[in-house]
Amino acid sequence: MDRTEVREVEEPRPGPGEVTIDVAYAGINFLDVMARRGDAGYVGAWPYAPGLEVSGAVREIGPDVTGLAVGQRVAAFTAGGGLGDVVRVRAEFVVPVPDKVPSPVAAAAPLMLTTALLLLEDAARFRPGETVLMHSASGGVGSAVAQLVPALGGGLRIGTVGRPDKVASALKSGYDVAVPRSEDLTEAVRAATGGAGVDIVLDPLGTTMLETDLGVTAPGGRIVLFGNAGGGDQAALPPAGRLIGGNLAISGFSISRLWATAPHRAAAGLRRVLDLIAEGRLDIAITEVGSLADVPAVHQLLAEGRGDGKYVAHLQG
Ligand SMILES: NC(=O)c1ccc[n+]([C@@H]2O[C@H](COP(=O)([O-])OP(=O)(O)OC[C@H]3O[C@@H](n4cnc5c(N)ncnc54)[C@H](OP(=O)(O)O)[C@@H]3O)[C@@H](O)[C@H]2O)c1
Repeated sequence: MDRTEVREVEEPRPGPGEVTIDVAYAGINFLDVMARRGDAGYVGAWPYAPGLEVSGAVREIGPDVTGLAVGQRVAAFTAGGGLGDVVRVRAEFVVPVPDKVPSPVAAAAPLMLTTALLLLEDAARFRPGETVLMHSASGGVGSAVAQLVPALGGGLRIGTVGRPDKVASALKSGYDVAVPRSEDLTEAVRAATGGAGVDIVLDPLGTTMLETDLGVTAPGGRIVLFGNAGGGDQAALPPAGRLIGGNLAISGFSISRLWATAPHRAAAGLRRVLDLIAEGRLDIAITEVGSLADVPAVHQLLAEGRGDGKYVAHLQG
């Protein structure tokens, strides 16, 4: 925390295919904590400018950009630097915000909410009525998944948390069952599903829970690995025969790599979550952080696993 500082920097200007945005709100994410911690693959160069998702107004438009106007209210994935008054982004990372979506909630959409939606719909191919097991259920992505399952047709939601005192938070987010990982998870999942097991596991814990995941997933089930919260080495995946014999799939998901390599797919997900909010089908609770100066303390809270839901920093407007 004491190595984080708020700095005056030169105002970014848009190049070809880019825009700048006057940032109103910026989402605070665990991915910035992993970068700050020095996890491999999360920082290209130091100093690192955190802030991966924002809402705000288009400030300036670079050459070769169509479909956006100065002053337009937008949400954007930023690939860094979002925790600043002005951020420069690729135009394909920017999506207009419908009138009915409040700006603080829009700031949680490009990374956190789009991740939750695409984990369920794209990576796990969620179908209405399916049972979802989510690890780290009380965090930002965890609470969004709890809200999205009913919006996508409903199904049993089972969440795991790292400490017993987080069970209440996971239940408040909407989980039907919440279990501390210190308990016998296999037994708890068996009890919650009448012995059937779960259809989908969403796992941001590297490979530390993979054996348990495989043991609690029903035939035809999908396990999606999408993080490495503990930051340690990751084990090899199980042999193909085990997946074939179990009728199981293991896949991976990364929202930042999706924005980088298939921005149209990420943007379609972002548009869809903004529409779900505008239609009143998705109600996301946000904790607003008053200023940039307060952000390092929130990063520290997340680093210690003490976060509760989603945090968004208020910058201006
Ligand atoms: N692949 C992607 O596209 C993508 C996108 C967004 C987020 N993510 C990942 O999804 C997870 C949730 O992200 P978020 O932004 O919602 O974060 P968050 O609200 O801060 O939640 C992170 C949670 O990770 C768990 N955790 C496990 N080991 C930890 C450790 N060593 N240190 C700190 N926390 C630890 C904690 O919950 P418990 O103790 O209850 O488990 C913590 O509450 C993170 O792992 C993040 O990297 C991946």
